[in-house]
Amino acid sequence: MSALRASWVEVSRAAIRHNTRILKRMVGDARLLAVVKANGYGHGAITVAEAALAAGADGLCVALVQEGVELRRAGIENPILVLSEQPLDQIDELLAHGLIPTAYSIRYIDALAEAARRHDVIAHEVHLKIDTGMHRVGAVPDAIVELAGRIVARSPQLSLGGVFTHLATADQPDPAFTNVQIDRFDHALDDLQRAGIDPGWVHIANSAGAIAHPRARRDMVRVGIALYGIAPDVSMTDACAELQPAMALRSRVSFTKRVAAGEGVSYGLRHRFARSANVATIPIGYADGVPRQLGLVGGEVLVRGVRRPIVGVVTRDQLMVDCGDDEVAVGDEVVLIGSQGNDAITANEWGSLLGTIGYEVACGLSARLPRVVVD
Ligand SMILES: Cc1ncc(COP(=O)(O)O)c(C=O)c1O
Repeated sequence: MSALRASWVEVSRAAIRHNTRILKRMVGDARLLAVVKANGYGHGAITVAEAALAAGADGLCVALVQEGVELRRAGIENPILVLSEQPLDQIDELLAHGLIPTAYSIRYIDALAEAARRHDVIAHEVHLKIDTGMHRVGAVPDAIVELAGRIVARSPQLSLGGVFTHLATADQPDPAFTNVQIDRFDHALDDLQRAGIDPGWVHIANSAGAIAHPRARRDMVRVGIALYGIAPDVSMTDACAELQPAMALRSRVSFTKRVAAGEGVSYGLRHRFARSANVATIPIGYADGVPRQLGLVGGEVLVRGVRRPIVGVVTRDQLMVDCGDDEVAVGDEVVLIGSQGNDAITANEWGSLLGTIGYEVACGLSARLPRVVVD
């Protein structure tokens, strides 16, 4: 633990390795790309990438060129796919670091080819993204032949390394729209085949797709959240039972006091004690990514193996916990996310209380919290 801070994020490399192996087993022959964007969903991109690759991941996915560059600078040489088109002025950097671009416009393909020509790059792999219904980024399915043809035509600088799409509702119990997306994708692939163009690696599935939709496991899957041991949706908790959470959020009690019945606590005195209580202060707050509302919507922590409610609003650097008549002491370990004794609090539990998802909780833990890697 950092000597400078009594609150920290614990990241288990062993859990990442375990989850990688479980997911690889689930998807059979499909290659597995570990999605490590947003600093490995808050876990630390390099730590996660190294652990996933050590356990058999075939490559990595990032959102930004700078994220790929950070991995290259850490000495990672495996394939790294950048999941969307990036600003044109970053293409040189992308090529220089051997990152695999995603493209879905003629303009971007041409800019890639032009830069590749200037740098004497040959057969730089490009993946083509098709929008089958999520409507975030990607080309319409009808454009697949034109775009793939353009990549092929820009040989020898470029080569078509893969074609993919992204699922919008794979984490929901109703598979109907996932099937619509897969059907649209398959029709586009048929068009490509009729045009005599080899799509390269075909991939569809995110974590939810990989786990719950065997139809979506093509040549390759791109798994993020499940790698971290977080179910994509609470409805998938059972399907993810074998996965281990890789992140814990821990702290230590910094102060204790007895507060009388009728007194309030924290800014605005939004919570009042019905009876006198031992109240512990924990040195972590919303500047660390613990949402201000958490204590008002039922958030709890574990101290001495028992759940205790967070009371009042979470302040920027500290929060308060009602320990009833139980003795707790300065220095006691506090678990905000993770397990202690026989109980556990998950990122998805916070997500459910706060009207969000475990993804946002994990990504929201700020850089101020030291990441402590354990094996
Ligand atoms: C294009 C793409 N593929 C795969 C993923 C991984 O998704 P998940 O974390 O749900 O596995 C993401 C993440 O948002 C993504 O944007």
